[in-house]
Amino acid sequence: MDVEEALEFVDHLAWTTTGKHLDSLQKAILRGAWENQKYKEIAQHHNRSEKYVKEVGFKLWKLLSVALEDEEVCKANFRAKLENLRFFSNVSLVGNGCVKIGNFSADNIHYPKVSQSESLQEETFNEKTTSSEPKVHLDLADAPEPNLFYNRTSELTTLENWIVGRTRLITILGLSGIGKTALTLQLISQIQHEFDYIIIYRSLRNSPPLQTLQTDLIQFCRGGAPVPAPSVSAPSPEERATTGGLPLLEYLRSHRCLIILDDIQTIFSSQQLAGNYQPGYENYGAFFKQITESSHNSCLILLSWEKPREIATLESENRPCKTLQLNGLGPEAQEIFREKGLAEPEKWSELIDLYRGNPLWLNIVATMIQDLLGGSVSEFLSYDTLFLGDLESLLHQQCDRLTASEQQAMGWLASTPEPADISKIPENLQLSRAELLNVMQSLGRRSLVETVQQNARSHFTIAPVIREYITNKK
Ligand SMILES: Nc1ncnc2c1ncn2[C@@H]1O[C@H](COP(=O)(O)OP(=O)(O)O)[C@@H](O)[C@H]1O
Ligand SMILES: [Mg+2]
Repeated sequence: MDVEEALEFVDHLAWTTTGKHLDSLQKAILRGAWENQKYKEIAQHHNRSEKYVKEVGFKLWKLLSVALEDEEVCKANFRAKLENLRFFSNVSLVGNGCVKIGNFSADNIHYPKVSQSESLQEETFNEKTTSSEPKVHLDLADAPEPNLFYNRTSELTTLENWIVGRTRLITILGLSGIGKTALTLQLISQIQHEFDYIIIYRSLRNSPPLQTLQTDLIQFCRGGAPVPAPSVSAPSPEERATTGGLPLLEYLRSHRCLIILDDIQTIFSSQQLAGNYQPGYENYGAFFKQITESSHNSCLILLSWEKPREIATLESENRPCKTLQLNGLGPEAQEIFREKGLAEPEKWSELIDLYRGNPLWLNIVATMIQDLLGGSVSEFLSYDTLFLGDLESLLHQQCDRLTASEQQAMGWLASTPEPADISKIPENLQLSRAELLNVMQSLGRRSLVETVQQNARSHFTIAPVIREYITNKK
């Protein structure tokens, strides 16, 4: 391990345990410690007082001691500790920003450390924090590392207003790649101060049963202490009375927490209309409802391709529950092309429109244009058909979930160049009016159809990329 690897390692550790990257002074201290420099020298190079540099250094060693479950890591032994760790424990950095040590990932190791360190996370990485400020305990080990991020100012303001206004359940909906996860990570960095205790991010990519998820969340809230069995499996009548039968509520009431659950679509069934739970996962619906209706000051954010069924009902009842339908990026998506080095900027807005500003699609397409056509956007646009390439498998994941009736309706929309009026059902569509209404509502809840107002009526259409995919499949 050289000094750059050591810095990268500590930076990942900092990110997974605190949600913040190392700042330039922290890096300078680590470099200095690696090269056996004195605090005085580091301070001179950085135009800071020696006392201040020592304080920041002390907090860094404390973070490392706790995070590595080692006895005191200090400036004098930092290099040796990291070199030994690499040698003996097979420390590696894994792609999603987690630190993996031997057979353990940061997921396993940092829960107890969070509680033991108490104030470590916020204090260590915020020079201005004073002891009177609240201590936020972050767990972002499950989250991807933030990447380049453009705009989304209005969405961030909306979400911040909802959170400040004590909305208890927020759902962010949108197609895969539209930027739900990236937006939420950005949001966390903006609204940490709103929460006095815990911010926790979990992906449901492995479809955990509700009980497993609750136990995991409670365990984090308890600072890693095991969850007492009766609280989860068989709450006593007294516990039911205070928690409303939902053990997690106890924690959501005692502190203002933010819990983010990503990839909610994994708990919904394929080949059923949007937002229907898989067998065994129906209790998630009751969980979302209870989080919204019970009194507490915490907030749950769901990120999903599909809207959960009960959310629409809760919204119609004016409960503290909101949905953000995330659309693509606007002109700022040009930054993606600039960054990829594409030619002909005057053609970029056409490309953004065709790919509906979906940053993942735009990244894929820009890479393709760069690799295959030397960056020529006009050549790409001159082709008769829209080239899908790697987008095909992404679209397959979403469209494969549709019911037979939804597929029929998508086929109809794909073959209709103008936005369609659903009051005029074509004969070849074997759907009753009621069925068609249900299907269009469901496709809307999957973000697969777009609504256009014409003559004071809603007309429906689909994005060019999806049209191409559906047409190719026929
Ligand atoms: N506002 C943005 N600016 C630049 N890139 C973005 C933005 N939002 C998302 N991306 C990029 O697009 C890709 C997909 O974003 P992601 O948040 O994972 O989408 P989703 O969670 O909706 O599937 C990622 O590579 C991400 O870095
Ligand atoms: Mg995501």
